[in-house]
Amino acid sequence: MTTTADVDQALEAAGLTNESVAQFVRQWAEHTGAERIEVVSAADDARLVQEALEAGELKPAGEGMYYSRSFSKDTARSEERTIVATSDEADRGQYNNWKPASEVRPVVEGHMKDALAGKTMYVIPYLMAPKGSALAKFAAGVELTDNRNVVMQMIRMARVGVEYINDMGDDFVRAVHVTGDLENLKQGTPDDMRNFVTVADERTILHFGSSYGGNALLGKIAHGLRQGSYDGWKNGFLVEQFMLLGITDKQTGKKYNIAGGFPSASGKTNLAMTLAPDALGDRYYVEFYGDDIAWIWVDEDGVLRGFNPENGVFGVAKDTNEKTNPTAIESIQPGSGAIFTNVAYNEKTGDVWWEGRGERPSDLDGWLDWKGERIADRSEDEMDAPWAHPNSRFTTVLSQVPNVADDYEDPRGVEIHGIIFGGRTRDREPLIRAIDDLAEGVYDGLTLGAEATAAADGKEGVLRYDPMSMRPFMSYGEGAYAQHWLDVVGQAKNQPVFAHVNWFQRGEDGRFLWPGYRENLRPLVWLMQYRAGEVTGQRTPVGVIPTRDELLLEGLDEQALADLDTVLTIDKARWQEEMGYREEHLQQFHDLPEQIWQAHRRVAKDLEDL
Ligand code: GDP
Ligand code: PGA
Ligand code: MN
Ligand code: MN
Repeated sequence: MTTTADVDQALEAAGLTNESVAQFVRQWAEHTGAERIEVVSAADDARLVQEALEAGELKPAGEGMYYSRSFSKDTARSEERTIVATSDEADRGQYNNWKPASEVRPVVEGHMKDALAGKTMYVIPYLMAPKGSALAKFAAGVELTDNRNVVMQMIRMARVGVEYINDMGDDFVRAVHVTGDLENLKQGTPDDMRNFVTVADERTILHFGSSYGGNALLGKIAHGLRQGSYDGWKNGFLVEQFMLLGITDKQTGKKYNIAGGFPSASGKTNLAMTLAPDALGDRYYVEFYGDDIAWIWVDEDGVLRGFNPENGVFGVAKDTNEKTNPTAIESIQPGSGAIFTNVAYNEKTGDVWWEGRGERPSDLDGWLDWKGERIADRSEDEMDAPWAHPNSRFTTVLSQVPNVADDYEDPRGVEIHGIIFGGRTRDREPLIRAIDDLAEGVYDGLTLGAEATAAADGKEGVLRYDPMSMRPFMSYGEGAYAQHWLDVVGQAKNQPVFAHVNWFQRGEDGRFLWPGYRENLRPLVWLMQYRAGEVTGQRTPVGVIPTRDELLLEGLDEQALADLDTVLTIDKARWQEEMGYREEHLQQFHDLPEQIWQAHRRVAKDLEDL
């Protein structure tokens, strides 16, 4: 076990001078019984990769690219095992699995006791913001982990180094990650030992029992979303699971920035990345700011602004190919440093593959599936089981994304002109419906209903409400959350236009009625024009829908043209049925602002009058 002197020596050698951080590291080195302490920064990446290759934790996947596999029962976030704890029961919401801090802290600290005997404790100082941001005070953190792969993923996904923490005093999130003995944690049983706890009012994150990114990269989801949204509630800003992109009309030079919430694995990364520069006959230039998280505030001039706190992309591999998302493919080329997790891997050639990557390799030699089992050994009836896990991922840095905006690291962020919500909804939701009013926009976000995806364990396909796509990341009560939205956005002099979008409506034969991916720019261009007063659309009880001739249709394939009228209409009976479900959904929330109920009643009445 390390001594205090060893810890101090490691911190000093790394140039870590923040005494509050030093105390935190000492305390946890002792509690976990770590054998060694290693403070890391982005500059350590090449060495860590080399060590991981030697240890077999990473395998080569082309030049400067890597493959890793997480334990087969540890491939997605676990919502049941995720808890937000505080000392005030008023923070209990419908979705945050609130527990008293005094009850859960001892349990997870108990699991972590002496868990690092014989192991290295990595110290990862990080910042979830561009350097110099007005919100930097809330963005600094230190993750302690026993897992080298987590370190390499964090180096890609966050800004990592002692320079981000030395001047922060006590303003940092204390984040502790212990992997645990993955084969013996009884995942998914009543005795499940995993605990993913954010003690929000103590700015402390304690995650035990996983090495999967969504559970283990504490800067990203636990801090960047859960802790961030709690801090934002107390300090006047918003933290949301939003992508953020900018669209410039090359003819007029006008630029619009759109932020948008879609549940995990429902299209955020693709929307922000795939609308590549030459989209729609080279008339529009689309820039990537962020694909999963946005921090949003009103600046001193009263302007609503947002930035992406991340430094990388943790993208869903499935269906990513040259046609659906050429930008993503370009960002994972040799030399990119990309890490692939739980995809299929060829141990002889180093190739990776996933469902929707292209034709399945016909020569099975060397191929392993996501569990590490040889495909060639599969029996006849196992042959068609997926090779890659449906939630397999690639991790790559923003600087590798071809359409990343020149100003993506500007600490002032960008002005936000539009906020959209969407998800996988097989019927009812049209392609796009614009909403002009703030309370109605917030109401729309709160009633976002979509099919759950493989990004969370055991939920795929279940239709459920996912307010603003924040259900798995909610940190306090939904009523207070709605009020906070009205308060923050209400202060802005540049009121954003809201919209609800759906790329996933299906026909009776199950096919998608809208081609999606790169074509999604068309409804977004319409939204820009709608905000500018250049088109008027048709008003419906649930928002303004484009008329057929207002949408840019050039180059759209015939099937899409034939299906277009269906995705541009409202089914009154289906919507009236939906209003009943929404009422039940909203009734679960305590202290929901009256304006939200007013918006609900307005929509219900207009549907009745239709
Ligand atoms: P995120 O997790 O919200 O960032 O979602 P991703 O952009 O990674 O997409 C999740 C899955 O949905 C991937 O398998 C994508 O290929 C697929 N997807 C994304 N956009 C579209 C779309 O417009 N249409 C269809 N049919 N699938 C999409
Ligand atoms: P996603 O990010 O939204 O891109 O899937 C990870 C997650 O939310 O679990
Ligand atoms: Mn996400
Ligand atoms: Mn994503």
